[in-house]
Amino acid sequence: MPIFYAKEQLIAHLELISTADSSIGFVPTMGALHSGHLALMQQSLTENTHTIVSIFVNPTQFNNPEDLAKYPRNLEADLTKITALSTNIIVYAPTVEDIYSGNPVSQSFDFDGLENQMEGQFRPGHFNGVGTIVKRLFEIVNPTRAYFGEKDFQQLQIVKKLAVKYNLPVTIIGCPIFRETNQLAMSSRNERLSEEERKQAGLIYQTLAQAKIKFQNEDIEKVNQFVQQTFENHPLFELEYFVIADEEKLITCHNKDKNKNYRAFIAVFVNNIRLIDTISLN
Ligand code: PAJ
Repeated sequence: MPIFYAKEQLIAHLELISTADSSIGFVPTMGALHSGHLALMQQSLTENTHTIVSIFVNPTQFNNPEDLAKYPRNLEADLTKITALSTNIIVYAPTVEDIYSGNPVSQSFDFDGLENQMEGQFRPGHFNGVGTIVKRLFEIVNPTRAYFGEKDFQQLQIVKKLAVKYNLPVTIIGCPIFRETNQLAMSSRNERLSEEERKQAGLIYQTLAQAKIKFQNEDIEKVNQFVQQTFENHPLFELEYFVIADEEKLITCHNKDKNKNYRAFIAVFVNNIRLIDTISLN
């Protein structure tokens, strides 16, 4: 499996292998790979002649230094998982220096307000960091298609906006959420949960699934109250936000409009570990 740590080498390799009818599928990740990541790679393998996976814990998108310091890193294990899926995947695992040339700061973006909702409110600067790294990686990899999980639905919408605003010649593809057997959304951060916490964290999706049922017949305010009450005084969980928003603009909704597609979004702390999830409500 080809692996590159420096962009010049990756770019030279891509020039070497590209032909008139080749296509590049790109899966950006921060490593600590799980089946959700591998599903994105599988989809890319199916749809493109070449697949590139980046593994880079991007410092500029972390608003919390402790979260950055504790983010799980295990390149060897990641490479083993990728090789087991396919030996044809090209891996780009750059250093901070290779990406930021000694200056790890974010560019400032206007994503037409998408960046001010939910994660944007609770993680200041996060989407400037995501925009900066994704744009930079796109410039290096020059992908035909790029694959992003619906788990980070706001990020997916923002990356689509980035591609449109900067006229980037890439198709952004959203992929379904992979879940553990108790329906907890797979996440690299789950590695930091104890076995008991991981088991109990199934409540997050259970609550979303119940909220979806209630959404059909009840007012949004009632659904919000139900979720607040579920987590209120819970010994293990601390709810950061629960929001019902339209899928396009991600603006918090208080009344239903038949012409819009809605989604519920949740962020919960379990023992200081921040987990997010989302469900389509239509
Ligand atoms: P990371 O959290 O490693 O996720 C990489 C990709 O995997 C993202 O598109 C994410 O939405 C997707 N993903 C994560 N968990 C998933 C699940 N359970 N099911 C399906 N897809 C899932 O998201 C990032 O990294 C970074 O912000 C990045 C885009 C790489 C920029 O640094």
